[in-house]
Amino acid sequence: MILVTGGLGYIGSHTIVELIKNNYEVVVVDNLSNSKREVIDKLKKITGKDIPVYINDLCDKKALRQIFQDNIIDSVIHFAGFKAVGESVEKPLMYYRNNIDSTLTLLEVMEEFNCFNIIFSSSATVYGSPKSLPIKEDFPLSTTNPYGSTKLFIEQILKDLYTSNNKFNITILRYFNPIGADESGLIGEDPRGIPNNLMPYIVKVATGELEILSVFGDDYDTVDGTGVRDYIHVTDLARGHVLSLKNQNGLRIYNLGTGHGTSVLELVNTFEKVNNIKINKKIVPRRPGDIAECFASCDKAFKELGFKAEKTIEDMCRDAYNYVKNNE
Ligand code: NAD
Ligand code: UD1
Repeated sequence: MILVTGGLGYIGSHTIVELIKNNYEVVVVDNLSNSKREVIDKLKKITGKDIPVYINDLCDKKALRQIFQDNIIDSVIHFAGFKAVGESVEKPLMYYRNNIDSTLTLLEVMEEFNCFNIIFSSSATVYGSPKSLPIKEDFPLSTTNPYGSTKLFIEQILKDLYTSNNKFNITILRYFNPIGADESGLIGEDPRGIPNNLMPYIVKVATGELEILSVFGDDYDTVDGTGVRDYIHVTDLARGHVLSLKNQNGLRIYNLGTGHGTSVLELVNTFEKVNNIKINKKIVPRRPGDIAECFASCDKAFKELGFKAEKTIEDMCRDAYNYVKNNE
């Protein structure tokens, strides 16, 4: 059985769909701090399976022990954590407490129950401002905000744990920019409040909930002056987890992206085209802390896992909007 922490969230829920397609049995723990209970029913609709879900905080060791007692857990996919960069700058202690304490508690309980297989959600943010592109896994690491630091510190904790006990199989996945939604339109990205990330913001302009998209800078040294990122469809990302699970062996680190960069204006134009809708936009100054361009080298994940993203930017734009239209 696979324990999926944070399994009711955006990436976790899509990964559960892929796990079940691949005949894995899944149990979920989530404290609903950034997700809704209704995802449980939606997962049942998509997969036809009743998935056991524990509504608990991962920092609650007693509750976590109970989950390991009730279920025979072979591997853990660890998504749970807070992820908003701006909020992490305002509330660093909350971020360090939640992201690091939950991971330490999880790892301690895993050791107690002789469960030595874990996949961890890291982020391209650990590369800081990369010195060249595409970004490879052995590039130097640095961060510019507490959220990114929690990812970097957890990566270090996992590396130290592996050194101390090489029974562990640890896979660190560094995601680039996941967007899009399951093609059923039942699950997707549902940020609370005003979104910080580009695609959720575009979608809210499309639905009329927000008036106008601010494009943060058009004077970068990129194809059209706007920021370039490696957007990956969340279903492709989810498949990457299944492939990682099938190839666990020692300490491994992979980028999960497409290897292609897309600019803000390219993404907006594609969104307008595939959904036949106009997105109001204005150019504003750069967002502090942003880098011009970021995309992954995906060679390692392809060579060692056989992972290759398949879905296009068109798919991502269509599915992201479809989910929100379905759930308005
Ligand atoms: P999400 O917020 O949608 O999902 C995280 C889930 O974890 C939520 O359902 C939340 O309720 C739960 N959670 C948080 N703290 C918990 C705790 N202490 N105990 C139990 N449950 C808890 O986020 P997501 O986009 O699905 O991201 C999943 C992981 O991937 C996170 O670790 C995130 O940092 C990482 N990541 C996300 C992105 C992205 O763009 N979405 C990019 C890189 C890395
Ligand atoms: C952000 C996070 C990063 C995290 C990543 C994936 C910041 C500073 N960084 O990065 O740590 O790993 O998300 O979750 O928040 N943009 C606009 N207008 C908007 C929003 C964004 O023009 O309203 C632009 C940005 O300047 C950027 C691109 O769109 O060029 C993508 O932005 P975003 O979706 O926030 O992702 P990242 O900047 O890659």
